[in-house]
Amino acid sequence: MNSGRTEQEEFWAGEFGNEYTERNQGMQIIASNTALFARILSKTTNIKSVLEFGTNRGLNLLAIRQVFPAVHLSAVEINEQAVTELQKIAELSIYQQSLFEFSIDYQRDLVLSKGLLIHINPDKLKPTYELLYQSSQRYICLVEYYNPVPVEVAYRGHKNKLFKRDFAGEMMNEYKDLSLVDYGFIYHRDNNFPQDDLTWFLLEKRTDAANAENIKIDK
Ligand SMILES: C[S@@+](CC[C@H](N)C(=O)[O-])C[C@H]1O[C@@H](n2cnc3c(N)ncnc32)[C@H](O)[C@@H]1O
Repeated sequence: MNSGRTEQEEFWAGEFGNEYTERNQGMQIIASNTALFARILSKTTNIKSVLEFGTNRGLNLLAIRQVFPAVHLSAVEINEQAVTELQKIAELSIYQQSLFEFSIDYQRDLVLSKGLLIHINPDKLKPTYELLYQSSQRYICLVEYYNPVPVEVAYRGHKNKLFKRDFAGEMMNEYKDLSLVDYGFIYHRDNNFPQDDLTWFLLEKRTDAANAENIKIDK
């Protein structure tokens, strides 16, 4: 068990992750995800490749393929049972490992984290942000639970497994060329396409923003 992984990584690689994979499936989730990504991706241009960290069985990637059928999809996932499900998806590059073991082979146009950063050990957020940033050619999409200040909340009776904060704000503070393209909230009681009270942020690497920031700093 002493793999050098965090307790959160062990949690997701093990039985809890298996049960999550079993519990979360079905066309309704893919429909809600398709509505969500149609909205988010309408703000982008020229996306040919997408990499998701923490894909589970691929319910986001399947939705993205509905919106952009020709896009090349890649998945990084720690849970073996989820990877078995991912292997049923055609033309998907799968990296069965923790994101902390992933080495960037090439930058994708869009890098996605949905319901992942909330489960990362807060002490490991800095290298996680760095990975998201470095693996993206242009866009970063975060779909997580927002809170203006960092908080930990109980997760299905488990402690130290769920954290909310302003992930996107922290990334924009760290990387000055990241700009906010758009953001939104999806309510769990949405009439047609519910999500689990998720807040989404679409960020883009823009050199004009970096220049503007440098000009501000220079003054
Ligand atoms: C709450 S689920 C979200 C799944 C998927 N993103 C979605 O929105 O349906 C979190 C997923 O991230 C995976 N995960 C957690 N920590 C990880 C890590 N360090 N590296 C890779 N995958 C991880 C879990 O195994 C799980 O499949």
